[in-house]
Amino acid sequence: MLNPLPVAIVTYPLPESWLASLENHCRLFIGPEELEKHIGEAEGLFSLLTLRVDESLLSKAKRLRVVSNMAVGVDNIDVAACTRRGIPVGNTPGVLTEATADLTMALLLSAARRLPEASADAREGRWTTWTPTAWLGADLNGATLGIVGLGRIGFAVATRAKAFGMQIVYANRNANEEAEETLRASRLSLEDLLRQSDFVSLHVPLSSETRRLIDERALRLMKPTAILVNAARGGVVDMAALHRALSDGWIAGAALDVTDPEPLPADHPLYRLPNCLIAPHIGSATRGARQRMAELACENLLAGLEGRPLPNCVNREALIRP
Ligand code: NAP
Ligand code: GLV
Repeated sequence: MLNPLPVAIVTYPLPESWLASLENHCRLFIGPEELEKHIGEAEGLFSLLTLRVDESLLSKAKRLRVVSNMAVGVDNIDVAACTRRGIPVGNTPGVLTEATADLTMALLLSAARRLPEASADAREGRWTTWTPTAWLGADLNGATLGIVGLGRIGFAVATRAKAFGMQIVYANRNANEEAEETLRASRLSLEDLLRQSDFVSLHVPLSSETRRLIDERALRLMKPTAILVNAARGGVVDMAALHRALSDGWIAGAALDVTDPEPLPADHPLYRLPNCLIAPHIGSATRGARQRMAELACENLLAGLEGRPLPNCVNREALIRP
C-alpha cells in the first residue's frame, strides 16, 4: 500500500499560486479552524507571525516534524521547545530585506518631513498659503543615522541612507566589517549611539536581550530633535515610555511599523500624538516579497516533511539526536 501523504496545516488562507509547490506532496488543511481540528495529526505546520507556537500548541501536535514560519522573525515560536522535540523551525530571511528597508526609509522620511501632519492639514483645509516657516522638518543630508541591529535589513537601510548623505553608526554585539568597509559605518555602544544619532532605526530580533531595549533610560539619552523608527518588533520599545518621550519632548518624533501589542487598539494614546506615525506591520508587504516569503516557507515545509535539512533553519541542532 502507498504511504499516505503527510498532513500539513497552513494557518491562514493564502493565494493558491503561493502554495503551488505543496500540491501532491501533502494533504493540506488551510485556515485557523483547520488548525484546531487537525493539529493532532499534522506533520507540518506553516505558521504566520500571529500564531504562538508554544508548549500548549506543541503538546497537542504529537506528530509534528517541521514548523515553517512565513517570516524572518521567529519570536512567535518557542524555538527551544521545538528543539527539545526534534522539530526544525524554518524562517524566510533575505527575500523581504529590500521591501522592509524601503518601508523603513518611507517611515524615516515621512517622520523627518512630517508628511502625515502636512497631508492632513492640506486635506482638512488648513493649507491657506505657502508659508516659509510651516511644516518644517529635519534634514537627512549630513545627519547621523544610528542603526540598532545592523544585519540584513539594517545593512539595506544603511545603504539607502548613505544615498541620502547620512552618516551611519551602529550597535551590534559583533562588528559588521562589510558595513565598516563599504559604508564607513562606525560601531558604538548603544548609549553612545543614542546620544549621537539624529535618527535611530531598530532592526534587532525580539529576544530576551532586546525586549524593551528602548526604555525610558534609552529614550532620555536621545537628542530632543531625534526621531525613532521601529520596523523590528514592537516589544523592543517600551510603549508607555515612548508615549511620555513624545508628549514631553524628550525626542521629536517616532515612526512605528510594529507595536506592542499588535494590532494597537484604535483608542491607544499614541495615535493621538501628531509626532507619532503608526503603520500596521507592513514592512514586507509588497507583492513580490510576500510571494517569495510564502514560496520559501513552502520549501522549508517540504524539506522538513521529506526529512531533508531546511533551506533556512533557525535550530539546526533540532535534528542532531544524542
Ligand atoms: P539579521 O540579519 O539577523 O539582523 C539582526 C541584527 O541584530 C544582527 O546584525 C545582530 O548582530 C543584531 N542583534 C541581535 N541581537 C542583538 C542585541 N542583543 N543587541 C544588538 N544587536 C543585536 O535579521 P534581519 O533579517 O535583518 O531581520 C531583523 C528583524 O527585523 C527580524 O528579526 C524581525 O523581527 C524584523 N522584521 C520586521 C519586518 C516588518 O515587517 N516590520 C520585516 C522583516 C523583519 P549581532 O548578532 O552581532 O548582535
Ligand atoms: C516580519 O515581520 C518578519 O519577521 O518577517
